[in-house]
Amino acid sequence: MKKKSKFSGSFGFVLAAAGSAVGVGNIWRFPYLAAKDGGGLFLIVYLALVLTFGFTLLTTDVAIGRRTHEHALRAFGAMKKKWAFLGVLTFLVPAIIMTYYTVIGGWVSKYFVTYLTGQGGAAAEDGYFTSFITAPVAPVVFMLIFLAVTAFVVYQGVEKGIERFSRIVMPALFVLIIGIAVFSLTLKVSDGDAVRTGLQGLQVYLVPNLEGLTPGRFLGILVDAMSQIFFSLSVSMGIMITYGSYVKKDVNLGQSLSRIEFFDTFVALLAGMMIIPAVYVFSGMEGMSAGPGLMFISMPKVFQAMGPVGAFIGLAFFLMVIFATLTSSVSILETLVANCMDIFHVDRKKMCLAITLISAAAAVVICLGYNVLYFEVDLPSGAVNQQLLDVVDYISNSVLMPFISLLTCLFVGWVMKPKWIVEEMEVSGHSFGRKKIYTVMIRYITPLMMLILFFQSTGVFRFLKSLFAKA
Ligand code: PFF
Repeated sequence: MKKKSKFSGSFGFVLAAAGSAVGVGNIWRFPYLAAKDGGGLFLIVYLALVLTFGFTLLTTDVAIGRRTHEHALRAFGAMKKKWAFLGVLTFLVPAIIMTYYTVIGGWVSKYFVTYLTGQGGAAAEDGYFTSFITAPVAPVVFMLIFLAVTAFVVYQGVEKGIERFSRIVMPALFVLIIGIAVFSLTLKVSDGDAVRTGLQGLQVYLVPNLEGLTPGRFLGILVDAMSQIFFSLSVSMGIMITYGSYVKKDVNLGQSLSRIEFFDTFVALLAGMMIIPAVYVFSGMEGMSAGPGLMFISMPKVFQAMGPVGAFIGLAFFLMVIFATLTSSVSILETLVANCMDIFHVDRKKMCLAITLISAAAAVVICLGYNVLYFEVDLPSGAVNQQLLDVVDYISNSVLMPFISLLTCLFVGWVMKPKWIVEEMEVSGHSFGRKKIYTVMIRYITPLMMLILFFQSTGVFRFLKSLFAKA
């Protein structure tokens, strides 16, 4: 037996994989998309897609890992020599993400310390976020602290490090997020004659808003939901292949995967329940900006508006986000370390130290993207005035990931055939309930969806549209 690392059983695997899946994507991106894309309408589309397309990609990654006992770099080559290049492509994604994820982890840590030291008021002031990320030293220091904690967990190994850490942190995360979401629903603010309540905010979130719905807008919502799902489930980046390779053969994979999908979606739903009513009550819907703006600019203003209790809620919120971000960054570092251990035949501890040092150097460069190396570019996806971190994120999430998913579906669906995955799902003696959906999804529907997503994010659709407009 070549690899000795294993999760102790199904529960350890589910918590670690859910730890990877639940991250800033669930907390800052999902609520924003739901607010932008018609509330309940987005939720329905998202749920339908998780159960079909998300489930297909997650099943494929985990089953490849468990069946081959390999990490991404070698797994595809072990399945068919000619497809080894797909392993290299897949490995590139965590390598790229590692350069900036710890930078965001550093930002979250800084906000946590700000609330811990009772300075939540300062965090709510205009310009606080920008002046922090453009500073020369502080973002680097916080990034290094965050990276050190990540590395410490990975250094201890799969069962003693990652699994043990997830067993403590994930339940704490659930308790915190449920507590804050319930608190959010009790909020109430009167503004002259108008009273805005958390329950009204909940309505904005849950009731489908079909106003102005055109086929084009519906396609936009579909694309948003799809790209959110595969970032959120950590698929097509080698992570779930690596975690799959640590799962014992007697584990009922179908059941474990359903639990991971459930946890990831449940936390995203709760995050929306926590953020949308709170932002609605205190700032109206204008506070619902995308990305960092929501978490680092709108939320501190909301905590400030809550009065004295806001200082505690803010502290609980950033603690919860640190937990979510740490378990995700652990999964990225683990994937890099595990793959490199195979290639260089070096033990875990040495490899972990080497990759941590390289990641630290790369993350410093990303931090400098907000001062010394500052630039602004427009991306083919349509996003304007973007910086280094956004460009790197665009390459991994918008270009590489849909492309890798597309190739993986074609490879598994048409070269290896779905049966190859189904056999692995049933090797423990449990039947694979969603066999039929899986087969149709992997061969026909998911590749098509990935092609659409790829065209959308690389600007092919926009280009064609402009051609037609000229003609
Ligand atoms: N799945 C995580 C989230 O939703 O935030 C994000 C993530 C984790 C991205 C791990 C990349 C990664 F390697």
